[in-house]
Amino acid sequence: MKKIGVLTGGGDCPGLNAVIRAVVRASMQYDWEIIGIKNGWKGLIDGDIVLLTDYSVSGILPKGGTIIGTSRTNPFKNPEGFQKVEDNIKKFGLDAIVAIGGDDTLSVALKLYQKGIPVVGVPKTIDNDLSGTDYTFGFDTAISIVTEAIDRLHTTAESHHRVIVVEVMGRHAGWIATVSGIAGGADEILIPEVPFDIEEVCKNLRARYEHGKKFSIVVVAEGAKPIGDKMVITQNDEKDEFGHVRLGGIGHTLAREIENRMNVETRVTILGHVQRGGTPTAHDRLLATRFGVAAIELIKNEEYGKMVALHGDKILSVPLEEAVSKLKTVNMDLYNISKLFFGKGRVEHKKDEKQFSKLY
Ligand code: F6P
Repeated sequence: MKKIGVLTGGGDCPGLNAVIRAVVRASMQYDWEIIGIKNGWKGLIDGDIVLLTDYSVSGILPKGGTIIGTSRTNPFKNPEGFQKVEDNIKKFGLDAIVAIGGDDTLSVALKLYQKGIPVVGVPKTIDNDLSGTDYTFGFDTAISIVTEAIDRLHTTAESHHRVIVVEVMGRHAGWIATVSGIAGGADEILIPEVPFDIEEVCKNLRARYEHGKKFSIVVVAEGAKPIGDKMVITQNDEKDEFGHVRLGGIGHTLAREIENRMNVETRVTILGHVQRGGTPTAHDRLLATRFGVAAIELIKNEEYGKMVALHGDKILSVPLEEAVSKLKTVNMDLYNISKLFFGKGRVEHKKDEKQFSKLY
């Protein structure tokens, strides 16, 4: 019988509980014991664990968040951190660890693996910025939430003839902005990968006004910045244990610029943590479940140092190095599709369209 530890690290996201449930249920075929490590790597430093049984994961599939808690703790931040992790793994008799997380959590998993600890990874993040996998779970739920918000903002923007700037998460990748912007029919999408020219943005918005469309929706990723600016806008200077600052605030700066340059009433909606909360979509539940089952198979085959991954419609595994070596930024073919819609939309047929409808 094996004893497996499972933890969730970094920002929470919908689908974490679905992975935990799948890990527990899939391990039952081998009679393994699953130990929940509380609050990410912090639980291995503090020795804070809980037994996870068939009963304890019952009913958690549709639940957002994580029943074992999470944190942004980095055990390699202080020299004692790793020692405590190693001692507790021995003390609890863990044969392997399933680390569910994004690049920070999985970079710790990789370091532990390099120090001889049997670890496998499961890719999580609403940002979809992890390499080695086509998609992470949590992303589909986030884009569904943002798309619904953009739909709702359309009706109020149109009624008041306003520009509404919607700021979304994603850190240094514009996946959430691009995909939900296309799905929601945004009139401008600004992402970290492509620094923006404010004059060009206003030109596109003006074109809509000139064609009689007296409102616009601008989606901006929190990590977007104007051409020439070296720094992204942050909420404060504080850094987490992995050295990240909290992004956010570009929406307000952008809205001010648009209002001043265009003289059109402009409002800002910052969607924030709403994008990460609540129940996962069916797509994320399925992906998370497949990932959890595949993680148990990796352990069964003693394929440590790997992360389960989605390639096309198949679940495979890739080395953890591949997942954390570089940020997966937005596919430019996709972003170029979104650009075809910028500055478009009119309230009347064009002259040639009118002639055409008279003829037929
Ligand atoms: O990585 C997920 C994410 O939601 C980012 O999109 C965002 O920048 C960050 O986490 C917010 O972190 P926190 O949970 O510290 O507010």
